[in-house]
Amino acid sequence: MGNNKMLEINTELMPILDYVMEKRGLDFSGYSPAMLARRMGHRLSAANSNDFQEYFSFIKKNTNEIDKLLDVITINVSRFFRDTLTFDFLADKILPAIVLEKIQSQDHSLRIWSAGCSRGEEPYSVAILIRELLRKEGFTMNLHIFATDIDTRVLKGAKKAIYPMASVENIKYRLLKKYFITTGEGFQLVPEISDQVVFSFYDMLDKKHSVPPESIFGTFDLVLCRNLLIYFNPEYQETIFAKLCRGLAPNGYLVLGETETPTLNAMPYFKRVVDFSPIYTKQ
Ligand SMILES: C[S@@+](CC[C@H](N)C(=O)[O-])C[C@H]1O[C@@H](n2cnc3c(N)ncnc32)[C@H](O)[C@@H]1O
Repeated sequence: MGNNKMLEINTELMPILDYVMEKRGLDFSGYSPAMLARRMGHRLSAANSNDFQEYFSFIKKNTNEIDKLLDVITINVSRFFRDTLTFDFLADKILPAIVLEKIQSQDHSLRIWSAGCSRGEEPYSVAILIRELLRKEGFTMNLHIFATDIDTRVLKGAKKAIYPMASVENIKYRLLKKYFITTGEGFQLVPEISDQVVFSFYDMLDKKHSVPPESIFGTFDLVLCRNLLIYFNPEYQETIFAKLCRGLAPNGYLVLGETETPTLNAMPYFKRVVDFSPIYTKQ
């Protein structure tokens, strides 16, 4: 796609994005224009609009269209233990290292943040691993797992904690049996795990709060921000990394998505732990 076409897309999309900002306070201007055009194009066709101008009139007249549009812009694909190698490494090396360091320094509080948590599969996967680890080692800890997203509908689903087969197929049978109950609706996570995670709305581009307001009392030992940065242009990625950097404890760990890496400005502050997995320590 040539540059002119890109500019054209931007000017066509801008009134709609401004409208979403005005109505919902969500700023998508830093998202990749090509991605936005593609996703918004799906709604344009569904609404039988011929162009974005026509779609803009449609969205103003149909109050529930804004939710449908948000649904296609913020893809929420996730599943338990997505990227098996990364979760195995977390279970075998990273979480034991964090917990051991805590025990040695007599600090019994463990703080974790899943940023862009979708329906909760990611923070719940971590909660399961920590529960297993603490049980095996016979340790107790005050566990605080904060999970945030911009999409209020997925947050509602996360609190309900019932999942379809596709979400749980990476879970080892032993853990599935132990932590889920099969219901007519799907696989229901047991309260022993679901009660461990606090979900809240938080926009990673929020200018007022550098971390979710619910979590302000302390830094994080582990932050997962996976498959969210890919949506943003480099400038907004820098904004997000500034937050991640501020939120992490010294020597804290950051886990990104498989195709994501720290931005240019953030690079000096993060050291990759292993080649095969996007896990970093803050240095
Ligand atoms: C593809 S999902 C990733 C879920 C999970 N982290 C994983 O890797 O499986 C991306 C999530 O980021 C959320 N998201 C998109 N823009 C966001 C923003 N500005 N602030 C917070 N969350 C955002 C979406 O709503 C979506 O739930």
